[in-house]
Amino acid sequence: MLGSLILLWICVCLLFLHLKNQRPKNFPPGPTPLPIFGTIFSLNLQNPLKDLERCYGNVYSLFIGSTPAVVINGFHATKEALVTKAADFSGRPHYTLISDFTKSKGLIMADYGPGWRARRRFSLLTLRNFGMGKQFMEDRILGETHYIVEQLEKSAGNPLCPESIFHNAAANIICQVVFGRRNDDEFIKLMIHPVTEMSNLITGPWAVLYDSAPMIRHLPLPFMRVFKYYENLVKDLINEHRKTRVPGEPQDFIDCYLDELDKKGDFDPSFSEEEMIVCILDLHFAGTDTTSNTLLAALLYLMNHPHIQGIPFAEKNIKHITQRMANTVPLSGPHCTTKDTELLGYSIPKGTLVIPNLTSVLSEEGQWKFPHEFNPENFLNDQGEFVKPEAFLPFSAGPRMCLGEGMARMELFLVLVTLLRKFKLIWPEDAGQPDYIPTFGITQTPKPFHMKVQHRAHKDGAY
Ligand code: HEM
Ligand SMILES: *[C@@H]1O[C@H](CO)[C@@H](O)[C@H](O)[C@H]1NC(C)=O
Repeated sequence: MLGSLILLWICVCLLFLHLKNQRPKNFPPGPTPLPIFGTIFSLNLQNPLKDLERCYGNVYSLFIGSTPAVVINGFHATKEALVTKAADFSGRPHYTLISDFTKSKGLIMADYGPGWRARRRFSLLTLRNFGMGKQFMEDRILGETHYIVEQLEKSAGNPLCPESIFHNAAANIICQVVFGRRNDDEFIKLMIHPVTEMSNLITGPWAVLYDSAPMIRHLPLPFMRVFKYYENLVKDLINEHRKTRVPGEPQDFIDCYLDELDKKGDFDPSFSEEEMIVCILDLHFAGTDTTSNTLLAALLYLMNHPHIQGIPFAEKNIKHITQRMANTVPLSGPHCTTKDTELLGYSIPKGTLVIPNLTSVLSEEGQWKFPHEFNPENFLNDQGEFVKPEAFLPFSAGPRMCLGEGMARMELFLVLVTLLRKFKLIWPEDAGQPDYIPTFGITQTPKPFHMKVQHRAHKDGAY
């Protein structure tokens, strides 16, 4: 009852705001402000708003609640904003709920500035060299792949639901890199569930309420506990590391960060322990669902295009071919202008929410030979050699582009190639037509499906 009253009240307030919504001068065009309630994370544009870019062009605007937002479509406009005018377009918006927890610390939602840049450089180097080098990462990934294979083998010949197997594998890999631990059952409950809960939270109705109704923020809201809970868990893990670490011989991301803290002393506030906790949450959050959802989409496409499973070219370039269709992060991360700027002749004031539509780039006519098909030819030139078209931007572009790209590509490659060599991936006969339309979200995931694997006989060819 109270809930519905609050909701009603907010609707009235927002409606009132909508009457005041006006586009700034020379702002990109767009539809008359509609009462779209929600954050961009729930902006499901597979629906009433479809094809706005056809009406208004590659750069158009929307009101999300009372917030004006600019949507960028197509490779050229996206590159112009994120790369050519990187300094103007690499900010992050402030969502109250997220900011109240992360306080703009860490990596993903941190403001574009020296602190973010230093932490990003450190994190990139750490992931790339990871103390002992590339081999470390490869060993962890192959170790997890082994568990995947084991579980698939158990039900060889019978349909199984792959979702949790792949989700756990992706979570295990990032947890080993960050925390130095695999998820025994207890650890899964402790660490993974809160992250899933948080990601549901920031995309759900509570986030909208929290952001639009200041007076509820001081209430003892139950969900704020989940943030605190995660923070405390990570603090305990950091303290555990403090006891067991050998300085200069890091075993995981936390050790590397502690080494860095030793070097910097207390002089550099952009490397505090609080910053470290948010960096850890960011890597954990950004590194799990992205990877597992891409793998699931890859399976869906490969099962329904069995001829591609046997092409050596496809094997070598499997990560590109499947990632384009998976389109896992359709609207990239939310960007924000850091100063008054221009894009393709339109004026965009400082602090405007900017949404790069990566879907439009990954399937843009004119950029791809077969923009709407799962077809390896998209990555072949006329001589039959591998090429990566410029519009291959599943990790976005510019200074904010995915920090885990190297690691993600290694995961996609090693897992998929191992599976293709060991198994035929089969769409179960009774599974009906595949549904390629994913469930929309910050990361898209294919609708749940079943798969079957069958051992490849050695005579089956090159494998
Ligand atoms: C297939 C897997 C993945 C995909 C498709 C993906 C995609 C993306 C995209 C589109 C962004 C937003 C870039 C922007 O705002 O312009 C992003 C940001 C980010 N990703 Fe990934 N990602 C993947 C895996 C990973 C992994 C494994 C990690 C961690 C090891 C990671 C860490 C991050 C971080 C920290 C950011 C924020 C960067 C910043 O704001 O400076 N990602 N990713
Ligand atoms: C993003 O691009 C796709 C493909 O062009 C289009 O269907 C969708 O409506 C676009 N979304 C937005 C928010 O413009």
